[in-house]
Amino acid sequence: MTFAPDFVSNGEEHDCAGDLPFAITSPSHGDLNQIRGWVYDQKSALSRVLARNGAILFRNFGLTNDHEFDEFIKAFGFPNFTYAESLSNAVRQNRTERVFTANEAPSEVSIFLHHEMAQTPVFPSKLFFYCEQSAREGGQTPLCRSDVLLNVIEKNQPDFLYKCENLGVRYSNTMPAKNNLESGQGRSWRSTLSVSTPAEAEIKLQTLGYSWQWLEDGSLRVTTTVMPAVRTLLDGRRVFFNQLIAAFKGWKNEDNDRNKAITFGDGSAIDERDMGRVSDSAEVLTFDMCWETGDVVLVDNFLVMHGRRPFKGTRRVLASLVGSDEHSAFGASTAKLY
Ligand SMILES: [Fe+2]
Repeated sequence: MTFAPDFVSNGEEHDCAGDLPFAITSPSHGDLNQIRGWVYDQKSALSRVLARNGAILFRNFGLTNDHEFDEFIKAFGFPNFTYAESLSNAVRQNRTERVFTANEAPSEVSIFLHHEMAQTPVFPSKLFFYCEQSAREGGQTPLCRSDVLLNVIEKNQPDFLYKCENLGVRYSNTMPAKNNLESGQGRSWRSTLSVSTPAEAEIKLQTLGYSWQWLEDGSLRVTTTVMPAVRTLLDGRRVFFNQLIAAFKGWKNEDNDRNKAITFGDGSAIDERDMGRVSDSAEVLTFDMCWETGDVVLVDNFLVMHGRRPFKGTRRVLASLVGSDEHSAFGASTAKLY
């Protein structure tokens, strides 16, 4: 029997959040060879849909474990972006070379909307998620189109957007001495920076252009250079590509105070009321991806923010990151350098 999934969504009108993600469902499970062949055949159609909609759901394909998920990803031929090399501050565990557990933070913790690793100079262009086991309750993955959000901010908060575009932002965070599984951002400085000694850490930080401070308990506080808060895609769409929402809503554990976690590039404070309005606008635009076991979602990290709702029961969602290639890059940014 041929493997012929249906492109379910009507492909033309996709500027509103309700059409996110574009769904592709299969009437029956395929075997791994059929699935890989289908991906290979549909690659250019899938790329077009992803660039337009920002996320694609693959449902009922019949992927049953992490290794099959790994094979599915490989069929796309994208460059891998390894967790070990990344500067992500989340604690994760690898299943295969390219597949790892999504954020291990406790089930009652919300992971707020963010672009993966937008607070660091190196970030993936795309993300794959695979639902190995759906939660008994909750555990949706909120998805929000960043270009649509930017248009709303421009309409409702033009002065705030002007500052974001012209000043850029700086991120600060404290990396613990040891991995802290209780936190959504508990990855140790040794693991984050792929080093084993403070001297090696300082060399790496210098290369990144970060400033830093060692704290008495052995943790490390770092601040980035000025980074753009708004970026332009190669097709001209502007996106709110930063970590502002996640920082203002979520970065408030004992190590990381949100009011100090992000400032504008000139060091001035970002008004919490402005961020409250941005966050409310994003919530209105957000689509909650309700997982069924076996689902895969491919997300364009430049175009769509994601997060995680709290959940009950066991939820295992695996992830894999894609590096950048010549087809997935930003155009020029407008942030000034301070
Ligand atoms: Fe994430």
